[in-house]
Amino acid sequence: MTGADPGDDPGFALLTAKISRDRGFGCASYKEKCLRRRIAVRMRARGVHTYADYARLLDHDTGEYERLLDALTINVTKLFRNWETYDAIERLVVPVLLRRPDPALRVWSAGCSSGEEPYSLAALFHRQAERAGTLPALARRLDVLGSDIDRGVLETAARGVYKAAAFADTPADLRDRYFRPEAGGFGVVPEIRSLVRFDRRDLLSDPPPVGGLHLITCRNVIIYFDRATQEALFERFHQALAPGGFLVLGKVETLLGHTRTLFATVEPRERIFRKQ
Ligand SMILES: C[S@@+](CC[C@H](N)C(=O)[O-])C[C@H]1O[C@@H](n2cnc3c(N)ncnc32)[C@H](O)[C@@H]1O
Repeated sequence: MTGADPGDDPGFALLTAKISRDRGFGCASYKEKCLRRRIAVRMRARGVHTYADYARLLDHDTGEYERLLDALTINVTKLFRNWETYDAIERLVVPVLLRRPDPALRVWSAGCSSGEEPYSLAALFHRQAERAGTLPALARRLDVLGSDIDRGVLETAARGVYKAAAFADTPADLRDRYFRPEAGGFGVVPEIRSLVRFDRRDLLSDPPPVGGLHLITCRNVIIYFDRATQEALFERFHQALAPGGFLVLGKVETLLGHTRTLFATVEPRERIFRKQ
């Protein structure tokens, strides 16, 4: 797009309905402003001025469809992103969970992008279990599931190899302990990799994993959803958690409306909540 703003273009609703129909991407639950901005980036890149023309382009160019979906599912992430949040999880959540008598500890990183978040969580559990002398039990007990709507990022997640830039927030001792130089960057060590598995899941249409979860992290994902969708998701997270289970949101995300009464606040700055 080289000038005209397609802001009032009535083709927007038709285009988003088409995307949802063709690709099962639930546009209706995302904030409209956010969708418009992301779609405008692709239209500009292709020199298209109206939503109708862009819809026609999508019909003939599957490569463009992939690029559009990439633009809609913002995959930016890092290992130990916002270290202060992980520091709080390591102090306030991990030791509490390791002390639980449950035979399994179930962690779900919802919207995990390329896997940095679930591997970071697994490393913290490993470090704390080692300090507590309970490492042998951890491999049997801990199950970290990373899920995302985007199959492309999940392939990267399964490889578990990251470039140096992904470590910008990572303390040196954690990087040296849990990653090894490998072709293409630094690979997660096998003892961490074996604690983590990945699954393709759409938060809007697939149910949470069954069974009582002990920790759900859903960071920098719901920010793109409208308010009603966010509230419905918080309710589902609450149902999926075991009693006393924890929920961690992104730094600019928080519980809304009546869902605030479902959780106690553990650490307000780091958005750590606990099922009441
Ligand atoms: C910005 S990344 C956040 C990654 C990580 N949680 C973090 O905070 O660094 C947002 C991720 O949410 C995923 N996502 C967006 N909509 C989704 C949906 N409906 N279901 C599951 N994942 C979704 C995107 O594919 C993307 O990988």
